Amino acid sequence: PKILLLGAPGAGKGTQSKNIVEGYGVAHVTTGDALRANKDMETEHGTPREYMEAGELVPDPVVNEIVEAALAEAGGFVLDGYPRNLSQAEYLEDITELDLVVLLDVDREELVRRLTGRRVCSECGRNFHVEFDQPEEEGVCDECGGELIQRDDDNEETVKERLEVFEENTQPVIDHYEAAGQLVRIDGEQPPGEVWTDLEDAIENA
Ligand code: AP5
Ligand code: ZN
Repeated sequence: PKILLLGAPGAGKGTQSKNIVEGYGVAHVTTGDALRANKDMETEHGTPREYMEAGELVPDPVVNEIVEAALAEAGGFVLDGYPRNLSQAEYLEDITELDLVVLLDVDREELVRRLTGRRVCSECGRNFHVEFDQPEEEGVCDECGGELIQRDDDNEETVKERLEVFEENTQPVIDHYEAAGQLVRIDGEQPPGEVWTDLEDAIENA
């Protein structure tokens, strides 16, 4: 299937994308990871790092190109972190058709708690949380033994900016899919396993 996973920063897109990839064998197409892996790439608009560390959107031409190349190679996919504004949504409509559009719905207060408490494995990318999802041994990944780090953009100030950018730019994208009758809303405040159960149902019914 071709799945679009929408949600605010910290809603659980990365966490649930992993489940979809494992459960359905699709490609994980994520602009966030792609940009983090190419933070210092020189473009005519500067480097991704400058935007990401400020919590701003990286310019559309840079991300559109990443997504178009990744989707060209993918059969089924879960798209995570894109589109983030209406112009990206229009671009996406020209390059592919979607089977399912899902929103992971989470309150702002909970988003701040999740993002500021998140720790990420520097080796395999698995997410942990200082309260909700602690590793067996502090600072060490359960799965691969890698070191857990805090993302550069998970400090309080940048989180606040990311949530404002989401409200202003990405909420209209959600409204657009909702108005088109395409949006399936899932309660993202449930524990991860329950979110996954709802998500599987949505995929089966798509
Ligand atoms: P990106 O990497 O896409 O970050 P994001 O959208 O801010 O999303 P996150 O990865 O922070 O959160 P998530 O929803 O994946 O949550 P997670 O599963 O980790 O983008 C980063 C930056 O790149 C942007 O700011 C921008 O600069 C740039 N960028 C990316 N795409 C772009 C685009 N299209 N256009 C322009 N610029 C772009 O979960 C969060 C935490 O909560 C974890 O600790 C996890 O363990 C925990 N958790 C997850 N689920 C649950 C649950 N159900 N209950 C309790 N805790 C949970
Ligand atoms: Zn790891």
